[in-house]
Amino acid sequence: MKFPSRISIRLGVNSYDILLGSGHLARLGQEIKRLQLGTHAVILTNPTIQRASGLTRQAAASIRRAGFEVKSMTIPDTERSKSFTMLGTVLSRLASWDGPGRKLFLVLIGGGVVGDLGGVAAGIYRRGIPFVQVPTTLLAQVDSSIGGKTGIDLPHGKNLVGLFVQPRLVFIDLEFLKTLPDRQFRSGLAEVVKCAVIRDAALFRFLEATPLSALRSSTNRLGWVISRAILVKRWAVEQDEKETRSIRTLLNFGHTFGHALEAATRYGTAYTHGEAVSVGMKVAADIALRLNKIGDSELEKIQGLLRHAGLPQTVRGVKEADLLKAMAQDKKWSIGRNRWVLPTGIGRAIVQTGVPDRIVRLSIRSVLER
Ligand SMILES: NC(=O)c1ccc[n+]([C@@H]2O[C@H](COP(=O)([O-])OP(=O)(O)OC[C@H]3O[C@@H](n4cnc5c(N)ncnc54)[C@H](O)[C@@H]3O)[C@@H](O)[C@H]2O)c1
Ligand SMILES: [Zn+2]
Repeated sequence: MKFPSRISIRLGVNSYDILLGSGHLARLGQEIKRLQLGTHAVILTNPTIQRASGLTRQAAASIRRAGFEVKSMTIPDTERSKSFTMLGTVLSRLASWDGPGRKLFLVLIGGGVVGDLGGVAAGIYRRGIPFVQVPTTLLAQVDSSIGGKTGIDLPHGKNLVGLFVQPRLVFIDLEFLKTLPDRQFRSGLAEVVKCAVIRDAALFRFLEATPLSALRSSTNRLGWVISRAILVKRWAVEQDEKETRSIRTLLNFGHTFGHALEAATRYGTAYTHGEAVSVGMKVAADIALRLNKIGDSELEKIQGLLRHAGLPQTVRGVKEADLLKAMAQDKKWSIGRNRWVLPTGIGRAIVQTGVPDRIVRLSIRSVLER
């Protein structure tokens, strides 16, 4: 089972490559050098990732060997790091290391939190400095490191502040996934299942047929699955970089309800992003069934794959009213009308606005445990 080692994202002057491999961090410095990003590298990561393995050190050594000065800084391992306070800290550190004859660039080694905060910092420091994404979670490797969305949170909601700014390189090393906790792995898998449902029936069938342990333990299988999910993301991002058409919206399958569940549980530890999206995919598929967009067998297939991936399809201890309220406040809902991504088969989906409230309620009730 072969997978591509390079996937190019074509966005005119903002184009970049995603390099995909296992145990290839020794190449990182040379790849950065080829791109002439600057003179001084600032690595942003978190202590958990640093402690998990020697890979962050390997990355730093590779960059040094290529002739760059390297400084590292860490942010606390929590979603709360996506804040103005932490952004200010990162920007101040950049400024204190900056100076005449220096050209800084950022290397973001981490999951979506490091990538999202670091992306904002890179996007606004000196009106923009280059940055490289080295995603270390499955979610970041298939989703958050690609496509140029960056963001920090406000008390009013997640990702309310941010900008579209593309990285200059995405460097994926599958070795990082070896130390990723199981729950985080499954959470990332939810985004892979999402890609399969909306666009890639072959990926769907492969996931159905592969036990989770067989997927995690094989570089080839993992590389193939990740590459397929990336190709779905690329397909959407290349056509709709800034989400002004509804193509990129398709990537929000499972997210209308997923975001509401995260908000209703106050972004705590009850549900990871991927788990919330998993329940959200069940809700959306249920709506699709009620609107005759899919049949029973397709709903069962989607539910079967979520079960197979060890992902939840029901929630406990959350009130229907809180979920509906959170959905009504979601910035992604178009003015006054709800908007859902609905599967129309395995590997196909549409954006549907104005789903009757009655149907939304019934589908939400189908996932609420008493
Ligand atoms: N920009 C986008 O397009 C986009 C898309 C999806 C999600 N996001 C954002 O991404 C964030 C979630 O990202 P995430 O799921 O990667 O969470 P995360 O960054 O919090 O990482 C999850 C956990 O795994 C740990 N970890 C990371 N890599 C590890 C490794 N190799 N070994 C051991 N532990 C490791 C982290 O320290 C953390 O505890 C959210 O803030 C979400 O809003 C952004
Ligand atoms: Zn997501």
